[in-house]
This record gives sequence, structure tokens and C-alpha cells, in this order.
Amino acid sequence: MPALSPDEVLRYLNAKGFLSSAEVELAKSRWNAERDGPLLQWLGREKLLPVDVARDVIELLAENQLEGLEPRLPGLILLKLAGRGGRGTVYRAWQPSLKRVVAVKILSKELAQNREYLQRFLREAKVASKVNHKNVVRAYDINKAGGNIYLVMEYVAGASVGEILREHGKLNPADALEIAHHVAEAIAYVSQVGLVHRDIKPDNIMLDKKGRVKLCDLGLARPSGATQLTSPMVAQGTPAYMAPEAALSPEIDSQADVYSLGVTLYRMLLGKLPFDHPDPVEILRMHLEEEPRGLDGGELPGALSELILRMLNKDAKKRPAAKDLPREIVSLEKAIPGLDKSSLWELVEGGEATLPVPGEQSTLALEPTNEMGFVQTQSPPANKPWETPPLPSPSASQRIPTSALPVSRQAPITGIGLGTMALALVLCVVYIVFFTLQPPPENKPDPQIDQLKTDNAALKGELEAEKSRQAAVREFMAKAANKLREEQADDAASAGAKPQRESLDDIMAEINELRASHSAAENPGAGE
Ligand SMILES: Nc1ncnc2c1ncn2[C@@H]1O[C@H](COP(=O)(O)OP(=O)(O)OP(=O)(O)O)[C@@H](O)[C@H]1O
Ligand SMILES: [Mg+2]
Repeated sequence: MPALSPDEVLRYLNAKGFLSSAEVELAKSRWNAERDGPLLQWLGREKLLPVDVARDVIELLAENQLEGLEPRLPGLILLKLAGRGGRGTVYRAWQPSLKRVVAVKILSKELAQNREYLQRFLREAKVASKVNHKNVVRAYDINKAGGNIYLVMEYVAGASVGEILREHGKLNPADALEIAHHVAEAIAYVSQVGLVHRDIKPDNIMLDKKGRVKLCDLGLARPSGATQLTSPMVAQGTPAYMAPEAALSPEIDSQADVYSLGVTLYRMLLGKLPFDHPDPVEILRMHLEEEPRGLDGGELPGALSELILRMLNKDAKKRPAAKDLPREIVSLEKAIPGLDKSSLWELVEGGEATLPVPGEQSTLALEPTNEMGFVQTQSPPANKPWETPPLPSPSASQRIPTSALPVSRQAPITGIGLGTMALALVLCVVYIVFFTLQPPPENKPDPQIDQLKTDNAALKGELEAEKSRQAAVREFMAKAANKLREEQADDAASAGAKPQRESLDDIMAEINELRASHSAAENPGAGE
């Protein structure tokens, strides 16, 4: 197919809802091929299209896939693959109705056909989709089309911590601790509404280009106690990161997430796992029985090793409580020189430290998002920064140029007269007196948390009902097994010779033996 002219590309982008007519006119009047280079890259630079979307469109045009990728999902144009995981495939996609880029996770065919898994997935995604926290990837929608079940979620332009670790091996302590801090904030928040993530691991933590931390896959979480719906077909977590109690029983709470974050932190700091083995069952045994090694060699500051050891305690109650963990991490960051100097954006290709500009809004951010708004101004410290005293101030090269700061922060105060200063002093005193006389502000309850608690309670109700149905089935099975055992014992007594069978497995094995001998007797030619 001949290459499309710039006008044709703009027409296509307009027809598919990537650009409005006004944006097309703007592009036509501003873009100059000689000065600005290729059109799509310019659209990305000018923020008329998200950079990742512009790159995908370039590739799709080159591959002659103007309509986007298969499968066709209503209201979405599938762009390029963002990644693959155990439960499905993630694509970048364009949602023309809201003019935004989203991530679409299409469940694997095997899971999409598993009724039991699907029911749980849909129920949990319903609750999780209402969670709106700066460190949690938003789940927007869940849908079914042409046999595909897919989850539409917030797109994070950046990289997963798993990908970063595969590239860098490990992270510096300040970065690792800052990531753990934000994930801990997410765990503390979702634990308030009774949700457990169950699968905290580096591949489920993303960093965007500004160094913001986002926890993925909360839609696959299960409310605490809601456990009887587990199916052996569906992994309930990743063995290397799984809490010991999760290996024994699906009845876990957010303390299991604290453990998995402990494993993640260990992995980020030391570049290896505390328990590693090719056989997943052996890994689970190690979580249950062995103590994590590698934390007493002085490679990490003592207080940090101690925190990880507490997070990895076999006894869930002895771990830091989910709600207290963010505070504990922050005090550690403040207490140990160098640990508060993270620069997460540097870990992401194309990442940049940006300062929040008041009122700034992405043209695509039609939904209000809860941005973090932090300022990071220093490069990561040298190895083991706690061993050398911190420099009194960052070097000039480490500082963000003041020209990048909002105007109000740039202007030096010059030429202030004594009178002005005295007036300012008086105003300060009035201000302090006024505010110290005010009653302390009351802690306002978060309406979202109340709503989520109600939703989760309803969900728990449904799950309790499911639980009692399953308990009834188990009771029936136990009775049937006892009856079988009694009959077996009677038979053994009357035969006088056979020993009493011990377990249900033995009984089943005997029944199978009997069946086999019956069918051999009835059908002597079979099996030859
Ligand atoms: N919301 C998102 N925005 C951008 N990229 C994403 C998003 N979610 C996932 N990805 C990308 O897709 C990849 C695969 O994600 P996925 O959740 O399917 O894999 P996983 O976590 O390894 O496995 P699973 O969750 O199935 O156990 C991630 O490593 C990440 O690069
Ligand atoms: Mg995942």
C-alpha cells in the first residue's frame, strides 16, 4: 500500500476519533514537515496525541492495519501489545468516546470459559472498579464481546517494576523504599474496605514516566474471607511472593499483602528472591519453614533489614499492620541518610522529573485523577549512602533549574523595606493567634470508603451464602466417606482378613480396583 499523505493521516485520525476537527485544523496550520519532522511524531511532541499512541499508529500504518488490531471490541481501537501475563494479554487501546488511551486486558480463553472463575472475577472487579486511589490502577469497565472477556483500565505509560528489575538486576535503596512506600499506601487503602490484593509482585507494580507508582490487577483481588470460590485451576498468587498462610488456606487478610510486599522489597534491594527453587511446591514449603537469608551481611542498613524481616515474619500478626506500614517506611526514609532521595522517573525510558503545575490538565484526562503532586529534585545517591554523611545541599547539576519552577517559586525577594517587613510580621502573629484559637479540625470520613464498605459487605453476604452451600457439600461428602468406611470395616470384619482402610483416597483406590476386576471379569477381552 502506498504511504499515506499527511492529509490522509489527519483524515484517518479524525475519522477514528483520535483527533477532533479543530485539532486537525490546528495541525494543518502549525505543522511544517521541513521544520518539525514526521507528522505523527510531531503530534506526540505537541501532546495532540499521547506519545505511545502516536508510536503505535505509526507502526500500525506501516503494517497496513489501519483499523487497529483484532479482536474487534466495541468502542475501542486496539493498538499494540503492552504485555502478556499468566491470565491474559494486555493491549494499549484508544477509546474515541472519551478521547483517551486505555489498557485492555483480554482474559485467556481458558479462564474466559471457566464459569466459576468468571463469576468471581466479575463480582470482584465490580467492587475494585470503585477504588480510586493515586497508587492503584483504575479499572474502568469489564465487558464481553465475541467470546472475549476483557477489562478496560487506566493505561500507565511507563514500565513495570518487574521489567525494570529484569533490566537492572536491582534498585538503589532509596528507589526501592519509595516504591514500597507507595504500594504500602495502596495496600493500606484497599485493606480499609476489606479488599486483599493477593498478588503483590514486581510485575503488578508500574512506574509511569513521572516516577509515579501504580499497583495493577486489583480487579483480580478477592475480598478478605471470600475464599470458598477458589478453584485449583486458578493460581491464587505467585508462589515466590506468596505469604505462608496463603499457601495453607485461602482465608487471608491484608497482612498477606504485607508479606508479599516484603518479598518484593527484598527482591528490589538484593536482586534475588528470599526463597527460590524450580519447584513451586518447594518454594511454598520454604515460605512456611525457612528463614530468609541475606539480610545480615551489612549490605543494607540495619533498620531496613529489620523492617524486611518483620514484613516476612511467618506469623501474620507479628508483621507491621497494613495500615501502619506507610508511616513506618516514611520514618525509615527520614531516619537513614540518603534513603529519602529517590528519583523513580530515571528508571523509566523517557522519564522526566516534572513539577506539578497548578491547574495543569492533560487534554486526555477527562476523568479526574488523584495525582500525587510531589517534587523530586535530586539524583540517586552513591552506593550505601547511609555510610557517608549527606552533602549539605545538592550540587547544581542535581537541582532542577529554577526556570522549571512555577513563577511564584522563582522570584527572589528584593528591595523589601523595613515597614513592609514589620507589617508582614504583624500579619504572621495575627495569623498564628487566629489559627491556634481555632478548634482542631475534625477528621472527615471519606464517603468513598463508606460506599466501598457497603458494596464489599454485600459481596461478602453473597460469598457467605456460597460458603455455606459449599460447607453443605463438604458435610455431605464427609458423611458419604464415613458411610463408605463403615461399610468397608463391616466387609473387612466379615472377611476376617482385610485391614481397615485409612483414608478416602485408599477407599477410592479400592473401589477402582474392584471396578477394574469386575469389568475384567465381565469383559475378558478388554485391554488386550
Ligand atoms: N494498566 C496497564 N498499563 C500499561 N501497561 C500494563 C498495564 N497492565 C499491565 N500492563 C503491561 O502488561 C504486562 C502484563 O501484565 P499482566 O497483568 O497481564 O501480567 P502479569 O502481572 O505478569 O501476570 P498476571 O497478572 O496474569 O498474573 C505488564 O508487565 C505491563 O508491562
Ligand atoms: Mg498483572
